[in-house]
Amino acid sequence: MAARTDLVALVTGANRGLGLETSRQLAAEGVTVIMAGREWAAIEAAAEGLRSEGHAVLPAVLEVTDGAQIEALRKKIEADFGRLDILINNAGIITGEHFGENSVRHIAGDALRQTFEVNLFAPIALTQALLPLIEKAPAGRIVNLSSILGSLTVNRGWDQPGFSDYADFKPTAYDASKAALNMFTVHLAAALRDTNIKVNAAHPGWVKTDLGGDAAPMEVVDGAKTSVALALLDADGPTGEFIHLGEELPW
Ligand SMILES: NC(=O)c1ccc[n+]([C@@H]2O[C@H](COP(=O)([O-])OP(=O)(O)OC[C@H]3O[C@@H](n4cnc5c(N)ncnc54)[C@H](OP(=O)(O)O)[C@@H]3O)[C@@H](O)[C@H]2O)c1
Repeated sequence: MAARTDLVALVTGANRGLGLETSRQLAAEGVTVIMAGREWAAIEAAAEGLRSEGHAVLPAVLEVTDGAQIEALRKKIEADFGRLDILINNAGIITGEHFGENSVRHIAGDALRQTFEVNLFAPIALTQALLPLIEKAPAGRIVNLSSILGSLTVNRGWDQPGFSDYADFKPTAYDASKAALNMFTVHLAAALRDTNIKVNAAHPGWVKTDLGGDAAPMEVVDGAKTSVALALLDADGPTGEFIHLGEELPW
């Protein structure tokens, strides 16, 4: 991989939570980080916070479901850098009203569609738009923020040692969107397997953020480590895998 100071990364949902911390840690490695957020005031404030810590970050507006904004950002990255080394598809949502073991009985089409728009269709569209720029980088890295909740093995594992924690926690829309994102990850990794680009799915852990909640055991500084490690993989690193802190997870 090129020297880290030569790398340019785009992180979506970078104004708070894991996206903000991932931007901080990548910038601390010397990477120039384009921090994307859907509200200018929020992303500008987040970027200013990291700049005041001495990091090289640039704010950008991106509502990830907006095709025109994707195209505008693609053009800007092309004009400013001519390539993109790292894409972290981090922005994601969970619709809280559909928690619980009965989610699957009641989940409505609107909630499913909204979740899939942000967690699946948007990262696919953004990745497709940016792939020509990633192909211009010496060693592109694509990281899709998945979740252990997207694992079919874990979801079916209610009678399996180690997996039963998730027996009664099945937010259907979220889990299905992340399982589908995992499939996109594998398909893209397969399509790019003869290139220098690596594509992996990250499970950050259960992390204290607005999404993860206060009961989560992991701090955000540790939660960002999986995304950062996958973004900075060496040439001999994995592709087409589902990873948490260096450990491969079951699909
Ligand atoms: N925290 C966990 O325990 C955990 C576990 C497994 C996986 N993950 C995954 O990790 C990723 C980050 O999660 P997090 O915990 O950091 O969540 P978070 O604190 O809720 O932050 C979510 C980020 O996504 C952005 N976002 C949501 N919808 C968007 C849209 N339509 N366009 C642009 N940005 C949008 C939010 O922007 P706004 O501020 O504008 O809403 C925010 O920046 C997600 O993909 C999540 O599924 C998290």
